Formats: sequence, structure tokens, C-alpha cells
Amino acid sequence: ALKLVTIGGGSSYTPELIEGYIKRREQLPIKEIWLVDIEAGMEKLKIVGAMAQRMVKAAGLDWEVHLTLDRQAALKDADFVSTQFRVGRLPARIKDERIPNYYGLIGQETNGAGGIFKAFRTVPVILDIVADMKRLCPQAWLINFTNPSGMITEAIRTYGHWDRVIGLCNVPVMAMLSEPELIGKTLDQLTYKFAGIDHFHWHRVWDESGQEVTMTIIDKLFGDNDAGLPTNIFDVPFFKDQLAAMRMIPCGYHRYYYRQEEMTAHGLAEYRENKTRAQQVTQIEEELFELYRDPELDYKPKQLAERGGAHYSDAACEAIASIYRDKKTHMVVSTLNQGSVPDLPSDHVVEVSAQIGAAGAVPMAFGHFQPAERGWLQLMKNMELVIVEAAVTGDYGLALQAFTMNPLIPSGATAKRVLDELLIAHQAYLPQF
Ligand code: NAD
Ligand code: G6P
Ligand code: MN
Repeated sequence: ALKLVTIGGGSSYTPELIEGYIKRREQLPIKEIWLVDIEAGMEKLKIVGAMAQRMVKAAGLDWEVHLTLDRQAALKDADFVSTQFRVGRLPARIKDERIPNYYGLIGQETNGAGGIFKAFRTVPVILDIVADMKRLCPQAWLINFTNPSGMITEAIRTYGHWDRVIGLCNVPVMAMLSEPELIGKTLDQLTYKFAGIDHFHWHRVWDESGQEVTMTIIDKLFGDNDAGLPTNIFDVPFFKDQLAAMRMIPCGYHRYYYRQEEMTAHGLAEYRENKTRAQQVTQIEEELFELYRDPELDYKPKQLAERGGAHYSDAACEAIASIYRDKKTHMVVSTLNQGSVPDLPSDHVVEVSAQIGAAGAVPMAFGHFQPAERGWLQLMKNMELVIVEAAVTGDYGLALQAFTMNPLIPSGATAKRVLDELLIAHQAYLPQF
């Protein structure tokens, strides 16, 4: 019987996770689900936890749903631990977005200066969690969803020395959910291959006869079509000629790099109206919790689809079922490269198509990238390594190096000022600096 633990259980996403477990009730002999949060999240945990309990009951299941602030009690003898916490909660995200915006830079939860600081705040906490797991549940799998998901997975492996980890994102899931019908196919007729790093990956697709259909899908993605784009990303279209040269489908987040000028302008307009994404999400979250308070509600409300992470449970719950049942499912995960992306170091984390089974993730060979994508990827992956090292050591010079490498941050006095301001703004969550 399985003991499943979710850290950051008070998240408004939790009903989706519970729904994912309920869908897989035949595959997963669940006995206990532990939702863990912190004092500041107590109120949310109680509301969404009660909602989770109602969902389980309505499904006629006898699973125990525990709500706790005691992480160690929860982790004791756990089989799977998933993480969906946000250090500093939404107010910290507002700072991550608005401080760079003030200086004319992109403000985004996983990209640019804000993404770097989300890593700085999260790395110390995740390494603590790994230390707890080593003592309390050394056989457990860690399913990381906490952003920046790829960098957090890198920290877990490289500095936590914990290899039973899989990093996840919903973006590949959304692509595979939406693209097949654009070309009149179903997912099981197509072969997908993804490679890159989290929020910076590309993919190619083949049909059942082995014919590549990547360009056919790209054609359909133009016009009014933002199929597969998460709701949190503003849809500035890519340049079609550029994609034709690339012959791969970029992920939604590539917009920040390929159309930086337009994405910045859009973000700054939202900033001036006090409507950055974190501010919008604060509003959506209030509405969601209002619904969750209803003692009659015992299913996931459709409004949860307004969150960018919709469908993440398809990744999280399927990863757990695939490991537990040794299903050897194709999933796109952050895992150790091991040569699957030969343009990147083999002993670091990449986001790649992999087979998920009892041994964890076995990445599939993708092959070399063309020079343009190779250049981007090597810069971005090495920047991630600098960010994670800075997050572990608290080295100010390395933090400045990361800022300087980041393509969304012009180098110079402004960059340094943004770094200094964010260090002060987030001081309470940055014990390492
Ligand atoms: P949120 O602000 O609602 O935070 C979730 C919960 O984490 C809160 O209840 C909070 O109190 C709790 N928390 C904060 N610090 C904690 C700690 N040290 N230990 C335990 N719990 C703690 O966040 P959210 O909007 O629900 O997002 C949760 C996380 O999932 C974020 O990191 C977000 O970036 C990430 N996310 C990832 C993806 C993906 O594709 N990988 C998609 C969506 C969201
Ligand atoms: C996305 C991503 C996440 C991201 C999130 C933001 O699609 O894959 O990693 O951070 O959704 O969603 P939100 O609703 O919080 O802006
Ligand atoms: Mn993601």
C-alpha cells in the first residue's frame, strides 16, 4: 500500500493532483496521502485539504488524506514525495516580476531575474527536504514540480546527491494533448521526441508511417492558433521563417528569447496596470479558494484551467504510476542527460523524452542540435549551473555572473542594481547570501 506525500499541499493545484490519483485508482494501491504545508499556508491547506478529502470520499475510496505542518512525520516511510511549494508564496512572486519590470526588464516566474531568484529561494529548502528524505524515506522517489523545475532537479542531483528524482513540467503534456488533432491524428499514432532544458526545449514529431510531421504541425500553429500554449504566456507569434530554418517546434517560453522586444513591451504594459501574472494569479487563486470553501464541492472546478500549470497532474500521477507499475511510458522529464543530448554535459540534468519505469527515467537519444539551438542551449544550461552554484554557495560574484549570462538581462549597472534590490527584497528567504 502506498504512502504519497505532497509538499506544498495547500496549493490551489491540489484538486488536480487528487483527481489524477483517482483516475489511476486501479493502478495505484494508495493507502495514505499526506499534504504538507507551513504555518503561513495553514489556512489554504485546511480549505483545499478538506476539498481533497471530499473528492476521495465522493469517489468511494477509503484513502486517508492527512493534513499536516510536520514534514518529517509525513516523510517517514513515504513511497513517493511530490513537491509543489513556493518559497515566499505569491507575494515573493510579485517581487520577482515587478522589481525587474520597474527597470524595464522581463518579469517572469522562471525566466530572467525573477526566475533566478526563485531558484535562489528554493534551492536551500529543497536540499533540506532531500536531507530529510535520506533519513526518513531513503527508498522514496521525489517527483519535483517546484519551479524552476529543471534547476531544482539539477540541485537535487548535483548538490543533494539524490538520484531518485524526476523533474516535471506541464508544457510538453499540453503540446501532446493539443497538437495531434491539428493534423487529424491521435496521440497514439504519433511519435514525439523532446530535448533541451526545462522551459527551453524543442520537439519533433513523426506519424505512424515514420514520416516527419513537424513542419505540418508548425503550419497549423500559425494563424489564430495558440494550441498548447499555457495560459500564463502571452501569445506573440514566432517568426515562421525562423521556425522553418529550425525544423523543430519550440516551447512556449522561447517567445521570451525569440521575441524579447514584444514580450517585454507586453509585460511592462501589464506592470503599469498592476496586472502582472502574479497579480492576476492572486485574483484567480482567491476565486478558486472561494469555490473550495463550498462544502458541497467535491470535484475539480473548471476554473482551475485558468492556471498555467493545468494538466500537471497528468505528468505527476503518470510518473508515479509508471515507476510503480514499471510501465515504460514515454514522458518528457528533467533527468540526467547520459548522452541523450550530446551537445550538453552528460552528467547534468536536461529535459528530454524518456521511458519511465521501475528504474526511473531512461532518456532517449535526441542527437545533435543545429548551431543556432546548440548555442542557445549551451548558454542556457551553463547559466543554470552558475545559478544553482550561486544558490548553494551564496556567492555574490556568481550571482552577478548568472545575471550577466542571462539573455533577458542587459549587463551593466542596471543589472547589478536589480540583483541588489532583489537580494534585499527576498532577504528573509535567502539564508545563503
Ligand atoms: P503557492 O504560492 O500556492 O504555494 C503552494 C504552497 O506551498 C502554499 O500553500 C505555500 O504555503 C506552500 N509552501 C511555501 N513554502 C513552503 C515550504 N517551505 N514547505 C512546504 N510548503 C511550503 O504556489 P502555486 O501557484 O500553487 O505553485 C506551486 C509551485 O509549483 C510553484 O513553485 C510553481 O512555480 C510550481 N509550478 C510548476 C509548474 C511546472 O510546470 N513544473 C506548473 C505550475 C506551477
Ligand atoms: C506553466 C508552467 C509552469 C509555470 C506555470 C505558471 O505553464 O509550465 O512551470 O510556472 O504554468 O502558471 P501560473 O498560472 O501560476 O501563472
Ligand atoms: Mn513548467
